[in-house]
Amino acid sequence: MPGRGQELVVMAGLQGSGKSTWVREHLAGTHAVVSKDHWPNARRREARQRRVVAELLAEGCSVVVDNTNPTPEDRAPLVAAARMAGAGVRAVWLDTPLVTCAARNDAREGRARVPPAGLYGTARRFVPPSTAEGFDRVDVVPAG
Ligand SMILES: Nc1ncnc2c1ncn2[C@@H]1O[C@H](COP(=O)(O)OP(=O)(O)OP(=O)(O)O)[C@@H](O)[C@H]1O
Ligand SMILES: [Mg+2]
Repeated sequence: MPGRGQELVVMAGLQGSGKSTWVREHLAGTHAVVSKDHWPNARRREARQRRVVAELLAEGCSVVVDNTNPTPEDRAPLVAAARMAGAGVRAVWLDTPLVTCAARNDAREGRARVPPAGLYGTARRFVPPSTAEGFDRVDVVPAG
């Protein structure tokens, strides 16, 4: 049963922009956190993520998808899933400069550190989320 105020939050931002930190600080306890990063080795992670999001929304949970979600094409299936479930849908954009993301990435240890080419590739493709994509709202979080 979709509860009143049920929503899907779509995070958007480069690697190291602070998405997971923001989710922990703002949505822990209220939203189920879904991220492809939870299944680093699974095949068809995209399909799996969509299925998990749809299931959680159908159960009435509010959900946050914590990935880079860099383009409208990446975000469109999530907007559609929220609409299908009758839930609200909001984007949260961590608008952290590339140079800051790169410095934070360099300071990370082990698996959390992504190859610089991955970061620069995401930066090239990144399109800020907009209400034109169907979001009820876009919240912009400046670099902290
Ligand atoms: N507001 C902030 N100010 C300073 N440092 C921050 C801030 N938010 C996050 N960080 C630091 O930046 C690093 C990256 O943060 P985080 O893991 O939240 O990024 P992310 O966007 O989830 O990255 P990824 O896409 O790779 O999962 C961490 O070391 C974190 O402690
Ligand atoms: Mg993260």
